[in-house]
Amino acid sequence: MSASVTVRVPAKVNVQLAVGAARPDGFHDLANVFLAVSLYDEVTATPAGTLTITCDGPDADKVPLDRTNLAARAAELLAARHGISPDVHLHIAKDIPVAGGMAGGSADGAGALLACDALWGLGTPRAELLEICAELGSDVPFSLVGGAALGVGRGERLTELPVGGDFHWVFAVADGGLSTPAVYGEFDRLTAGVHVPEPAASPVLLDALRTGDTSALADALANDLQSAALSLRPSLAATLAAGTEAGALAALVSGSGPTTAFLVKDADAAASVADALIASGTCRTARVATSPAAGATLL
Ligand code: C5P
Repeated sequence: MSASVTVRVPAKVNVQLAVGAARPDGFHDLANVFLAVSLYDEVTATPAGTLTITCDGPDADKVPLDRTNLAARAAELLAARHGISPDVHLHIAKDIPVAGGMAGGSADGAGALLACDALWGLGTPRAELLEICAELGSDVPFSLVGGAALGVGRGERLTELPVGGDFHWVFAVADGGLSTPAVYGEFDRLTAGVHVPEPAASPVLLDALRTGDTSALADALANDLQSAALSLRPSLAATLAAGTEAGALAALVSGSGPTTAFLVKDADAAASVADALIASGTCRTARVATSPAAGATLL
């Protein structure tokens, strides 16, 4: 057992989020093409007398430090499986926007799981870690895996995808979060009485990822939650327009929002689109990132 263990975990953008009709359990079947991006949280696990969480970073005041935090739940689930007590201090160095549709909470869940597994010397098989991730939330398995993957079911059943090159992104961070259940609820309201097709991954989009073709990916980006996010937060339309006017190849809401994502040609374009977004006054800040990024990694 070491004194402490740190795990680095990436954020994600959904390059395709195809949403089916609501299921009897309230969840929606998805064809969810995840791409990990180079914005990271770090979770450090240290032995302690009881389970505690601390957090630092620009958005730290918005992170719950109680047992509702996915990092705490991850430690509890892992400990329960092994019949031990989850006595650990978890520190989250938070750089991923909070409640922004970039899976920041999911990242902390996956990070805590891997960190506790190493700290407690458990050696839990990967398949079992992925089961615990799926129990924690629909996006958590992808935070562990990283890279690119197609998630089906509620997004938790993953098939890893090949990516043939680097993609450059700008993310515009909005003021305040958006509740994921509220956005899905708005999707249900907007699609009431309308036939919602079975979600399916776009072969054109998968091909663009495989070949690393930025302009083909730009043409194929799609998010079925975008109308719902815009309906709840109409001001996001101005952010999307500002990034497009600044030269982004494509703009979309990231996951359930309110973070917006802009695919750009290269690192220079990323810097200028980020500057223009900040100058536009339509977002709180803008961050540049590249993809793909590795999944949860022990440092
Ligand atoms: O799985 P997770 O806890 O991240 O889901 C949060 C909420 O998002 C769910 O309670 C549900 O309202 C919605 N959701 C959904 N369909 C999915 C994933 C999430 O309706 N496939």
